[in-house]
Formats: sequence, C-alpha cells, structure tokens
Amino acid sequence: MTARRITLITGASGGIGADLARVFASRGHDLALVARNAQKLEALADEIQGSGKPRPIVIALDLAVPGACAGLAEALAANDAGVEILVNNAGFGLAGLAQGYDPAEQIEITDLNIRALTELTLRFLPGIIAARGRILNVASIAAFLPGPGMAVYYASKAYVVSFSAALGAELAASGVSVTALCPGITRTGFQERARIDAAGLASLPGMSAMAVAEAGYAGLMAGRRRVVPGLANKLLVKLLPFVPNALLLPLVLRFQARRRAA
Ligand SMILES: NC(=O)c1ccc[n+]([C@@H]2O[C@H](COP(=O)([O-])OP(=O)(O)OC[C@H]3O[C@@H](n4cnc5c(N)ncnc54)[C@H](OP(=O)(O)O)[C@@H]3O)[C@@H](O)[C@H]2O)c1
Repeated sequence: MTARRITLITGASGGIGADLARVFASRGHDLALVARNAQKLEALADEIQGSGKPRPIVIALDLAVPGACAGLAEALAANDAGVEILVNNAGFGLAGLAQGYDPAEQIEITDLNIRALTELTLRFLPGIIAARGRILNVASIAAFLPGPGMAVYYASKAYVVSFSAALGAELAASGVSVTALCPGITRTGFQERARIDAAGLASLPGMSAMAVAEAGYAGLMAGRRRVVPGLANKLLVKLLPFVPNALLLPLVLRFQARRRAA
C-alpha cells in the first residue's frame, strides 16, 4: 500500500490539463502533475498549495520519449504515491498536409497521443483496479471523422475513443470507469503548437479550458463513457454519422487548409 493515493494528470502545465488540476484540487483530490515545463508545473503547484490544498507532486518529463512512462512510475514510487485516478490529457496536433511535415514530427503525435496514453493506462491499471479508481482520457470531437489537413491528429483521437470504450467495457465489473472527454475548439496553447492561424481562429466559437475541465470532471465522476462539452459540439457529433465521407472529406480539408498558419 502506498501512503498517497493520487490523481495523475498529464499535460498539466497549461490549457485543459492545468484547469483539470485546479478542478480536481478544489474537489479535494491529491495530485501529481506531469508535463515538460517544470517552471509552469511548480507555479501551478504553488497556486494549489496556496489555496490550502496539499502540494501536488511535480514530475517534469517528456512523455513522447521512450522510457518516460517507466521514469514517471519510478518518480511516483519514490514519492510513495499510487495512482487512483489517471487523467491522460497531454496531446498535440499539427495543422497541414501530412506530406508537408517531417515524418518524425508526426510520429511524435502518435508517441504522445497514443503510445504514452496506452502505456500509462496499462502500467497503472492494476493499482487503479485495486483502488476502484477511474480513468479520464482526453480525446477530441476530431475522433469522430477523418481529418484531412490534420490526418495523424484526428486518427490518434479516434484511437483514444475506441481504446477508452473497449477498456471501459472490460473493466465494467471491476468498478473502474473509463471516460473519453471529447472537446471541440478550446482556447489553449494547442493552436499555437499546431501552427493554426490565430486570425482564422478568432472567427470561430471556442470554449474555455475551465468549462471543458468542469464538464470532464463531472462526467468522470458520474462514470460516463463519453463526454462532449458544449451544445454545438454535441450536435455535431450526433450529425456526423449521417454525412457521407464524399461530402465530409473535402469540407474538412478546406476548413483545415484555411486554419494553417502561413
Ligand atoms: N484546444 C483544443 O482545441 C482541443 C480540442 C480537442 C481536444 N484537445 C486535447 O486536449 C488536450 C490538452 O490540450 P490543450 O488544448 O490544453 O493544449 P495545450 O495548452 O497545448 O496543453 C498541452 C499540454 O500537454 C503537455 N505536453 C505536450 N507535449 C508533451 C510531452 N511530449 N510530454 C509531456 N507533456 C506534454 C503540455 O506541456 P509542456 O509543453 O510543458 O510539455 C501542456 O501541458 C490534448 O490532448 C488535446 O489534443 C484540445
């Protein structure tokens, strides 16, 4: 038995992950925060401690690098901490044609969005089952359609939704719930890293990271299989299965081409 039962949140240095950390902390969860930027993680840990909550464990590492998940597990063990709730939030995408990017940059998307998410889930699963804990995987509405102009990213999020639903079904009898959080456009650092044109984005509706985090937390605690925050996103996800790919693919390609920064 470990002394600390923690909620592990990846990608907690900004955006949706940082707001998930604030929401979990405000509801009394003890946290471990992971991302590459140590300074931002320490600042968030200071903020949470300053609000009278236990100081989160800070683990700065690059999850896209082989061996990172093992390093993360070692760091938690050194803190005598076991994972009760796992939040796989770290992720990124790249806007533009697949042929326009160095393959290594695009493989980094699958390394982080798919491999690290899967490895962390499988590695911590025995402890999560023993604790009758929960898993929150951050996917996207991009999971529900092919994404020409952002092909690897959309496909990676389809994996997250599929893996989460299947694992949730396997774990139903164990009392562990698996929730896929599927946000639409959310104002975070995501767009800059994806090289999406900020001017093009300004005309589009977007949710706040905090609204997405609150919806994700509520859905996780209710044991929901899938959470799509926001009415417009919910409608989109309901309608997509009725739109033929022959119509959808050129539309998505045009939409994504317009968003790509020059
Ligand atoms: N924003 C949107 O419109 C949107 C929509 C749908 C889904 N999502 C999903 O929401 C999740 C959170 O994204 P966000 O919008 O909050 O974007 P963000 O502001 O860019 O945050 C991404 C987080 O992931 C961390 N991260 C990135 N690469 C990492 C790596 N190699 N190792 C460890 N941590 C890494 C970043 O921290 P460091 O840079 O410090 O490592 C940061 O904390 C992602 O899975 C994204 O795909 C976002």
